[in-house]
Amino acid sequence: MAKGTADHRKAGSATAEAAANIAFIKYWGAVDLEAAIPANPSISMTLSSCVSRCSCRPLVGVSEDEILFRDESGSLNPAVAAFAGRVRGHLDRLRARMGYEGYFRIATENSFPAGAGMASSASGFCALALAVSASVEGGAPDPEELSIRARISGSGSATRSAMGGYVVWPSEPSGEGPAKIRFPASHWDLRDLVAVVQTEEKKVSSLDGHKLAPTSPHYRRRLEVLPERMERVVRALSERDFATFADVLEEEAIDLHLIAMSSRPAVFYWKPATLAVLEQVRRMRSDGLEAASTMDAGANVHVLCTPESEPAVAERLAKIPGVGRVIADRVGSGPRLLDSEVN
Ligand code: PMV
Repeated sequence: MAKGTADHRKAGSATAEAAANIAFIKYWGAVDLEAAIPANPSISMTLSSCVSRCSCRPLVGVSEDEILFRDESGSLNPAVAAFAGRVRGHLDRLRARMGYEGYFRIATENSFPAGAGMASSASGFCALALAVSASVEGGAPDPEELSIRARISGSGSATRSAMGGYVVWPSEPSGEGPAKIRFPASHWDLRDLVAVVQTEEKKVSSLDGHKLAPTSPHYRRRLEVLPERMERVVRALSERDFATFADVLEEEAIDLHLIAMSSRPAVFYWKPATLAVLEQVRRMRSDGLEAASTMDAGANVHVLCTPESEPAVAERLAKIPGVGRVIADRVGSGPRLLDSEVN
């Protein structure tokens, strides 16, 4: 539908589900933070079980959106101000892009702990973009348009959750374009075991982390080495070469945290158990298991592994002191519309 032609009388309710993603090469630092135009390309794997669900219902006779979030007690309550503010900003940009003027009731829930470096913003804003699009336009936009609609939330990683499999973003140098599937989910059945060492909200949001990144004396060097690192990841994925994949995955994760820890002021996301997991995963590899660690902006460790190694890796992760639980996930096929409402 062309911009500016959405007819509010035709809008209906819609519910969408989108999964989080785990970046192999991370988005860290922006050219334009508000528009989520990244300073470097990133690549991630879209997950399957760590999902957000979002329902969008058009409201009549009101002058603001109603934003609800399912809290830890299980009930659907008005969202806290900071989250509601980000959702309203995203809704305003979606309305402008679709030429729609009405307000919505938005209800969101996550299948995993929010705010702990597990990309709840990626799945949440992507599910929101899809639910609102389907509510206004009667169906899902094409994945590239959905990717842009997810990006205008301000969460760059949401751009990649619009597609399944192994996803690069941006797919063109300008940084404004959509994400793109580099390999479909069927290319390599990788598993992601998330060793949860922290479930409370992290103290420094990724938005603040992006802002601080250029203050690290190592940031410029990071941008210089990333093209070669990206090439190595893509080659390892293409050849399903786990040993190379493990090397480059860990190199990149440590680099992201090195930038964070050397920013001014410094940002420390790790907990003691984070280091314990990193050490144990290296030991697993020397014992012949295919396992490799990465972290986003948080303390939890995503341990990528092959299906053959998964049972032994899960068992060993669960025994590490400080690991509260291990969430088992795998590569997924992208967002979808659902029949049942979040209520
Ligand atoms: O999408 P944002 O603004 O929440 O930033 C994502 C930052 C990382 O998760 C650390 C990296 C990434 O590419 O997902």
